[in-house]
Amino acid sequence: MSEHKITLEQLQHEQLVQVVGSTPKKRDELHVFLMGNQPTLYRLSRRHLLAFGLICSVALITLYAYWDVMMLTTLSARRDLDTSNSRQPLATRLEREVRVLCWVMTTPKYHKTRAVHILRTWGKRCNKIYFITSESDDELDTIVLTKPDSYDVLWGKTKEAFTYLYENKRHEADWFMKADDDTYVFVENLRHMLYPYSPDMPLHFGYNYKLFHNPFGNASYMSGGSGYVLSREALRLFVHGMNDSSKCRQEDDHAEDVEMGLCLYNLGVRAGDSRDLMLRNRFFPMAPYSLLMSKYNGLDFWLFKYAYYNPRACMNCLSDYPVAFHYVAPEELYVYDFFCYQLEMYGRTPVQEQLPEKILPGQLYIPPSDNRYYQT
Ligand SMILES: *[C@@H]1O[C@H](CO)[C@@H](O)[C@H](O)[C@H]1NC(C)=O
Ligand SMILES: *[C@@H]1O[C@H](CO)[C@@H](O)[C@H](O)[C@H]1NC(C)=O
Repeated sequence: MSEHKITLEQLQHEQLVQVVGSTPKKRDELHVFLMGNQPTLYRLSRRHLLAFGLICSVALITLYAYWDVMMLTTLSARRDLDTSNSRQPLATRLEREVRVLCWVMTTPKYHKTRAVHILRTWGKRCNKIYFITSESDDELDTIVLTKPDSYDVLWGKTKEAFTYLYENKRHEADWFMKADDDTYVFVENLRHMLYPYSPDMPLHFGYNYKLFHNPFGNASYMSGGSGYVLSREALRLFVHGMNDSSKCRQEDDHAEDVEMGLCLYNLGVRAGDSRDLMLRNRFFPMAPYSLLMSKYNGLDFWLFKYAYYNPRACMNCLSDYPVAFHYVAPEELYVYDFFCYQLEMYGRTPVQEQLPEKILPGQLYIPPSDNRYYQT
């Protein structure tokens, strides 16, 4: 067998002879054979390598560009997550869940000096805002009434305004807030106060005054100055029932807020308790200093005699989440806005807030007056 034994060199030579002079492909194969055991890598031609390199670089560039976008998306998603517990998103959620239509009673005389300033401050936070007046305006969403511009027919104007809103705008909101052109409303706090209640409950809220004229027992009506808010159901009952002369005053005169309170009471709309969980007032028919400075008014101050709840002044009588103040001058609207929506108190820990529980229809409880001067 030894004569048949051939060396590796001989074998290589024989095969070399076999393939030399054949096609270039064959020569390649030989090359692979000679170079040992990594044929596949070696078989990549320069053209293939070039294509591979090109694909790699395109992929890298694409990945790099995509990475940027991905990082930005991830970061902004995390930002949303981080703020989900803070004040703004909860208020934004309530803006959709507790829709408030505001309407402001004004006259052409005050369009430019009061109404536009309301629109630029708290008014823009209502889901909708309309100005009830006797002439249209280039800057305001007005509802022009047929009743004359007179203080004496305020009750008549209120009936006409609510009727118009019910017939044309009732689908725009769940709650309907009436304010004067010198009222300031903290709309976010109004939504927070209303959140537990269903707009299908016949309810209205405001600063509760004692309703003296009522022969049926203890009841309250809402101060016109700090404004009052009707549920969708209360609006429906009011507009459908206001022509009943045994329940509501048919003439247009008399005190608008007292007539409104009497009429709503007779129509089965309940006067809600607008105080917070610590029994502090959220609506106030004065500017805040009248309440905050306990020596500003004596106990014989008329307001304390007519108050249905909390007939006194003190630091702690005013809610941390107030809803409305009255007698706020136009320039003060901007001061309130600055202090509440822009001013930061350096180093103050943000408050952890959560939504209150919903009140089921059978659970509604309205406490009686706590004013010991109360007389029916
Ligand atoms: C009215 O409220 C007062 C004080 O809470 C109470 O003493 C009185 O019984 C109430 N009257 C009616 C008719 O509910
Ligand atoms: C109430 O009376 C006014 C004026 O007469 C009328 O326009 C309105 O349709 C009446 N409302 C109802 C519910 O009947």
